[in-house]
Amino acid sequence: AEIRMEPYRIKVVEPIPLTTPQQRKAALERVHYNLFDLRAEEVTIDLLSDSGTGALSSAQLAVGMAGDESYAGSRSFYRFRDTVAELTGFSHILPAHQGRAAERLLFSNLLKPGDTVLSNTHFDTTRANVELAGCVARDLPCAEARNLDSSEPFKGNIDLEALERGLTETTGSRVAAVVMTITNNGGGGQPVSMENLKRTSELCRRHGVPLILDAARFAENAWLVTRHEAAYKDRTPRQVAEEAFRLADGCVMSAKKDGIVHIGGFIGLNDSELAQKCELLLIATEGFPTYGGLAGRDLDMIAQGLQEVTEPSYLAERAESADHLAQRVRAAGVDILEPPGLHAIYLNAGRLLPHIPPHQYPGHALACRLYLEGGIRSAELGSLYLGEEDEDGNPVKSPPYELVRLALPRRVYTRSHYDHVGRTLETIAKNAESVHGYRIVEQSPILRHFRAKLQPV
Ligand code: F0G
Repeated sequence: AEIRMEPYRIKVVEPIPLTTPQQRKAALERVHYNLFDLRAEEVTIDLLSDSGTGALSSAQLAVGMAGDESYAGSRSFYRFRDTVAELTGFSHILPAHQGRAAERLLFSNLLKPGDTVLSNTHFDTTRANVELAGCVARDLPCAEARNLDSSEPFKGNIDLEALERGLTETTGSRVAAVVMTITNNGGGGQPVSMENLKRTSELCRRHGVPLILDAARFAENAWLVTRHEAAYKDRTPRQVAEEAFRLADGCVMSAKKDGIVHIGGFIGLNDSELAQKCELLLIATEGFPTYGGLAGRDLDMIAQGLQEVTEPSYLAERAESADHLAQRVRAAGVDILEPPGLHAIYLNAGRLLPHIPPHQYPGHALACRLYLEGGIRSAELGSLYLGEEDEDGNPVKSPPYELVRLALPRRVYTRSHYDHVGRTLETIAKNAESVHGYRIVEQSPILRHFRAKLQPV
């Protein structure tokens, strides 16, 4: 029979803090009900992000020890470059310290002020870097993405008709790039099918517009393709990933996700002229092109992580443990954005807490209760993050959904940790009407969710 379990065992452990309800209450008051301001040692299960939070393998640590820290031309760089080039097929590979640095370098050279970028969904830093370049970032998610309950397998797809319209329009601003985010983090971690990616690639080629992959979770996308896209069921995730990269003209990658490292990223490009421009900016702002703001050891650990991340046994276990958590959450009576992806489970807080209006932040209320009840840290993706109110606190803009993301760090938590999350949600759901809303007492003009101070109402 098939052996299904974690394809690794634990060699090094790190204690996690077990706090009391009184300690958590005091901590939350101290940080004005903003979970970003907690000290990590006040958190028992930290599901704030799957970025840079994964566990290294012994092989990664070993190559890290052997890393070459020469200022230029290190052995580590060449190993990194060859590994990335083999995976992606791109002829120019530029390291950067993380995904958003790669985005800034690429977009400030590829885009001109006034241009438009089309995407299945821009991740927030991607959008910010498009906008900082003076451009407009337009999201064109497929229609299925709007239904949180449907378990269509490829809700991360771009709307091809809208894309074609966007590319054909001759009036208005020039479309300078199409960005496909795989998997679609802003759209609930949903994957993009190879069919959708191929048709996007054809449309881009026909209109002479570069297709850029935001490849932060390319291996998880590839895994879901082998599971759900009939034409790919006999391929390995690695083969799917190789093909996906070759449909694009370039990529930006945060290696903090599917590189399974704590820091790192890169740009891949075929266009030599564009690569040269990016390289100059890289030297000026990140570091010499053979290290790009990273240490030699980081480059080696990325190269090793990129080999490990497409292992079918690793991806199968990641999918199963996400599924295990999803089942516990549903059994607790809490709806999730279906189907569960691999990197996170998104809780439908709006539906669980209908008595809390959007301008009192049901997602935030659930996130705070998860912390108070079980020491669990999560991220709100609702009206606190995307909404807007007038001076009297009345809503002027609210997003369609109130969600809470439970992000799953790679190789870090076991099923019994996730069972604790399930039990905590069960307790909360049984007494959901006792969960109360919040109001903002202090906020910043942009990205307010990171720094806002709140009060219970
Ligand atoms: N693209 C996607 C799809 C991402 O999810 C992220 C980061 C980035 C780009 C930026 O990469 O953090 O290395 O600069 N996502 C993290 C998250 C922060 O929690 O989802 P970075």
